[in-house]
Amino acid sequence: MAASNTAESDATHFGFRTVPLGDKQRMVDEVFHSVAKRYDVMNDLMSMGLHRAWKDLLVSKLRPPKNDRPFTLLDVAGGTGDVSFRTVEAGGSGARATVADINGGMLAVGRERAIAKGLADKVEFVEANAEELPFPDRSFDAATIAFGIRNVPRMDKALSEMRRVLKPGGRCLVLEFSHVDVPGLDAIYNTYSFKLIPGMGKMVTGDAESYQYLVESIRQFPRPEAFADLMSTAGFKRVAWTPLSGGIVALHSAVRI
Ligand SMILES: C[S@@+](CC[C@H](N)C(=O)[O-])C[C@H]1O[C@@H](n2cnc3c(N)ncnc32)[C@H](O)[C@@H]1O
Repeated sequence: MAASNTAESDATHFGFRTVPLGDKQRMVDEVFHSVAKRYDVMNDLMSMGLHRAWKDLLVSKLRPPKNDRPFTLLDVAGGTGDVSFRTVEAGGSGARATVADINGGMLAVGRERAIAKGLADKVEFVEANAEELPFPDRSFDAATIAFGIRNVPRMDKALSEMRRVLKPGGRCLVLEFSHVDVPGLDAIYNTYSFKLIPGMGKMVTGDAESYQYLVESIRQFPRPEAFADLMSTAGFKRVAWTPLSGGIVALHSAVRI
C-alpha cells in the first residue's frame, strides 16, 4: 500500500497524460520554447483579446500606488512580461516589476518587448523556477502568477515560495483558466478548445501538440474551491476568488500576514 501511494504521488498530469513528476517540467519547457516567438499573437487569437481584460482586472485588484511610493511586484511564470508591463504602466514612478520565468525563450521575447515599450529600467527579467525562487524572504510588495501555475509540477511549492518572498501584508493574485459552469457555454467552450485551438496553434506556431497540451492542462486544473484550499495550505490568509467570463478564468487573491 505504501509503495503504491508513493508511486501515485510521484506521478502528475501533462495534459491528459499521466507522467512521472520529474518529467513534467522538461515537457512544459519544450512547449514554451516551441511557442515563445508567437506566444503573444496566439494569446490574442485564442482568447479573442479577452486575456487583456482579464490581466487588466488583475492589475486593478493589485492597485499599484499612483505616486512615487516604492512598489515591487514579483510576476512568477511571467513569460513575455504582460502583467508586469501593465502593472508598472498603471502605477506611479515608484512601481517596479520582476518577471521570473523558467524559460529563457519567453524571457528573451519579454526583454525585447520591455525595450520597445521604454520600460527596460522598470521591469527586470530573471530566469528562475517558481518552485525555488532566488529571492530573499519578505522582499516584494505583491506577487502574481497569470496562466502559469497549472504548468508548474509542484504547485504547493510554488505557492509556498510566493508566500515566503512576500512582505507581511503583501498580496498574492493568481489568474488561471478555470471551469465553465454556465449551461450552454460549457459545450461551446469545449468545442472551441478541443476542435479549434490546436488547429489555430498549428497555423500560427506550426505546433498543434503544444496547444493540445494547453487546452488539456486547463481541464486538469483544480476547481476554484480546491485551489483556494491549496493557497490556504501554503499559509495564505483571506483567500478569495472571483470567476470571470462564466468561469473560463478565475482570479484568486490572498494575503501573507
Ligand atoms: C501560459 S504562459 C503565461 C505567461 C504570462 N504569465 C502571461 O500571462 O502571458 C506560462 C509560463 O509559465 C512558465 N513556467 C512553467 N513552469 C514554470 C516554473 N516551474 N517556474 C517558472 N515559470 C514556469 C512558462 O515558461 C511560461 O512562460
